[in-house]
Amino acid sequence: MGVGIGMAKQILAALLFAALVCTGADAAFNRYSFPKGFVFGTGSAAYQYEGAYKEGGKGVSVWDTFTHIPGKIKNNDTGDVADDFYHRYKGDVQLLKDMNMDAFRFSIAWTRILPNGSLSGGVNKEGVAFYNNLINEIIAKGMKPVVTIFHWDTPQALESKYGGFLSEKIIKDYVDFAEVCFREFGDRVKFWTTFNEPWTYAVNGYAIGAFAPGRCSPYVSKSYLGGDSAREPYIVTHNIILAHAEAVRLYRTKYKPSQHGQIGITVVSNWYVPNSDTAADRGAVQRSLDFMLGWYLDPIVHGEYPGTMRGFLGVRLPRFTAEQVALIKGSYDFIGMNYYTAYYAVSVPPPNGLEQSYNGDIRANTSGYRNGVPIGEPEFVPIFFVYPAGLRELLLYTNRRYNSPVMYVTENGIAEANNASIPIKEALKDGHRISFHYQHLQFLNHAIRDGVKVKGYFTWTFMDCFEWGDGYLDLFGLIYIDRLHGLKRYRKQSSYWIEQFLKR
Ligand SMILES: *[C@@H]1O[C@H](CO)[C@@H](O)[C@H](O)[C@H]1NC(C)=O
Ligand SMILES: *[C@@H]1O[C@H](CO)[C@@H](O)[C@H](O)[C@H]1NC(C)=O
Ligand SMILES: *[C@@H]1O[C@H](CO)[C@@H](O)[C@H](O)[C@H]1NC(C)=O
Ligand SMILES: *[C@@H]1O[C@H](CO)[C@@H](O)[C@H](O)[C@H]1NC(C)=O
Repeated sequence: MGVGIGMAKQILAALLFAALVCTGADAAFNRYSFPKGFVFGTGSAAYQYEGAYKEGGKGVSVWDTFTHIPGKIKNNDTGDVADDFYHRYKGDVQLLKDMNMDAFRFSIAWTRILPNGSLSGGVNKEGVAFYNNLINEIIAKGMKPVVTIFHWDTPQALESKYGGFLSEKIIKDYVDFAEVCFREFGDRVKFWTTFNEPWTYAVNGYAIGAFAPGRCSPYVSKSYLGGDSAREPYIVTHNIILAHAEAVRLYRTKYKPSQHGQIGITVVSNWYVPNSDTAADRGAVQRSLDFMLGWYLDPIVHGEYPGTMRGFLGVRLPRFTAEQVALIKGSYDFIGMNYYTAYYAVSVPPPNGLEQSYNGDIRANTSGYRNGVPIGEPEFVPIFFVYPAGLRELLLYTNRRYNSPVMYVTENGIAEANNASIPIKEALKDGHRISFHYQHLQFLNHAIRDGVKVKGYFTWTFMDCFEWGDGYLDLFGLIYIDRLHGLKRYRKQSSYWIEQFLKR
């Protein structure tokens, strides 16, 4: 954390005041400031919410395995119980309705549907029933289900059998899983994303080793579980892109003609500002965007990896065959964009050739600070800075470079600390979150007026939940969960603000 708690409180108070002043001065800014049919929602993910990790016939995922290794997650937290959404989804869907949400984004736990990862292990009827009930509840309340097929919880059986996404064998198993989803739920689900943030899965899972399955090179992390930070992130991404494109092809040929839904992928990107006005630092910005966003969007829009990556990585970067190029190019109806922060980028020379890694490959240092001054207000989560203009910049850039795709902002949000010594009444005062969403929605609105085809905005996240490596320390929710007293749900101020913003 960059600021002391006292100072943080003053900043929060100032931001809340600013948010109220803004809202007052521009009372007309609300859902009707956006184009007709624009979708407002909030998001979740199975491992972060459901709990019930061994119930209802569910199999084990790499996140179940990883969180049970002591020392991997802050406070040794796990998603074993999480928000107990598996049992409490009905009340939670009512909370979504109370906030006037149009849509709810959630993911399907692969091992609830296919407990050992593949069709040969059988489809778990109880898992299918859970998602049918959830989908029906969302629709009964007048909202739309927006489904992420894969949000990082690879079946452990496939990880053990062939290395999960390191093997091209995952493509068939993934597509089989996606097909069960289309077949069972596609009569009611009209928005599908194949993968959530594949960048985070590949980099945190295989370059840094911070997320499941926790792989990286020995010189990157002391707690080495195996891996190669110079190669595995590129292999995993390659297999993800092919699995994505095969699932899209299947949906388009076999299900879309009768189900009439849309299918896309959710990517994440930071925005980057050159550290100095030099060609070198502008190059660092371009490489940073290419290695985070272009790594995924160049293949599915243009059919190959960005030139910066192909030029530098040589044989470490897998290539697409002509047949695969035809498969991946255009494999999306929309792009989901997750945005959290911006950084300064400075050009650096290639690192020591003996210790290659994804991070060094970018040949850019990135930082939220320049000469000690932050690019935006530092947040509780130390890697994040409030930089709402970056959302518009990122959308304009994507529009320009990637043939003006239809886009949805599938995640955007800010956290505060989980702190047991703060009374709940105080913990619900999240003026910083109101200010954050208000400002980002203003810049999003500006991007739409600039001609970018954005059709929806989803906050991250609906309720405080298991935040991966940070466990339950980061509270990103509109709803507070009292983890010390039976997971009781409380509405934060932001949930009332959004209810007003979305009032029809
Ligand atoms: C996590 O578990 C390990 C092993 O039991 C223990 O050494 C460590 O102190 C625990 N960490 C926390 C924060 O409780
Ligand atoms: C899943 O279970 C089936 C049936 O028991 C078996 O044939 C298959 O090899 C299993 N797959 C994995 C990945 O364990
Ligand atoms: C880039 O970061 C590395 C590691 O923190 C540091 O040693 C180096 O001085 C930085 N270079 C520049 C140009 O900022
Ligand atoms: C928790 O909140 C208390 C009271 O505001 C504060 O004194 C303490 O520093 C906070 N702890 C953390 C870890 O933020």
